[in-house]
Amino acid sequence: MIRRVLVTGGAGFIGSAVCRLLVARGYHVVCLDKLTYAGNRASLRDAEAEPGFHFVRADIADTETVLELLRNERIEGIMHLAAESHVDRSIDSPAAFVETNVVGTVRLLDAALAHWRTLPARAREHFRFHHVSTDEVFGDLPFDSGVFTEATPYAPSSPYSASKAASDHFVRAWHETYGLPVVLSNCSNNYGPFHFPEKLIPLTILNALEGRPLPVYGRGENVRDWLFVEDHAAALERVLTQGRPGETYLIGGRAEATNLSVVEAICDILDRRQPLPGMVRRSLIGFVADRPGHDRRYAIDPAKAERELGWTPNESFASGLSKTVDWYLANRWWWEPIRASNYAGERLGRVA
Ligand code: NAD
Ligand code: DAU
Repeated sequence: MIRRVLVTGGAGFIGSAVCRLLVARGYHVVCLDKLTYAGNRASLRDAEAEPGFHFVRADIADTETVLELLRNERIEGIMHLAAESHVDRSIDSPAAFVETNVVGTVRLLDAALAHWRTLPARAREHFRFHHVSTDEVFGDLPFDSGVFTEATPYAPSSPYSASKAASDHFVRAWHETYGLPVVLSNCSNNYGPFHFPEKLIPLTILNALEGRPLPVYGRGENVRDWLFVEDHAAALERVLTQGRPGETYLIGGRAEATNLSVVEAICDILDRRQPLPGMVRRSLIGFVADRPGHDRRYAIDPAKAERELGWTPNESFASGLSKTVDWYLANRWWWEPIRASNYAGERLGRVA
């Protein structure tokens, strides 16, 4: 049974939800994070109060440091979430995505393999390297047909998704070539508390709250499949502990929505919670130049995860979105410093 887990990227959006969940369930959790612009110790405030939690600032590409940590902490499972995660930034600066998502993952695999090889036979059998990946590796779906399954061929469109596709392939190669017991999960768009406000949902919430323009790329017709982050974290624990080595699991909430409908829903929730004098927030919506290489639609068939792992989400998109808006209203302490000194919401990812 896995009880001692290394979570890479645990100071990020999904990683911090995973750390909170694992600590609450009694795991010994070591969080390794470089603290890039997207990493934030404040997101770990609750986890850090618990004795079973340990934070280490380091780069996944630092194989020596990672190996020492794996040995000293007697790690039984690695959940690898550390990554450059924002598509628009990958359009502006793709090199960082190759460095962390591809090279960093390979260096982490090297450390994991070296550690795994020193374990006794029974511990080797139970060890897992879990790569947390994205549905974006499958590329562009037509608006009116198709869903991603575990059998869908890879066809990434952006530098971000190309780097995640490459890292998926390297993780599988370490399984096929060296026997490292890996599991992979590819998830749809997450949303929820502690989401860095460069992504559509938190950016829209904060801009709408402040009565600022709400930029929607193209005509807002692109479709994403949304999952509340705590439901994803619960799925990830199951993939780690119940997933079969070498297998991939697609995770999603069967909650497709056009970007325009998401932005409108946020406007309507905020109008009910905190009306602006003399205006409805939908009037702040403006169509702006499209994202280059913008995939039209993502949609996940999560039947395998439901069947084999017994996982289903707790939140509908409506209930999760309301909770998320309420969280941002109640937690200015978390996002105000980010907006003031880290990222104020300017447009990213436009090709000149
Ligand atoms: P995030 O950007 O919020 O967090 C990434 C974390 O990784 C940050 O804490 C950052 O400091 C850390 N990090 C970056 N480079 C590092 C390095 N070289 N060494 C150590 N730490 C480093 O990302 P997220 O949205 O929480 O995504 C987490 C993972 O889940 C990513 O691998 C992403 O591809 C995947 N994913 C995300 C979504 C989504 O909707 N957000 C959906 C599916 C899959
Ligand atoms: O599908 C999973 C992926 O979801 C993850 O792998 C990524 O890490 C995560 O960032 C997310 O990628 P997206 O590109 O789908 O997320 P983003 O929030 O950047 O954009 C969601 C949609 O909204 C997308 O179609 C682009 C659009 N958009 C985005 C922004 C920031 C807008 O219309 N306006 C905006 O201002």
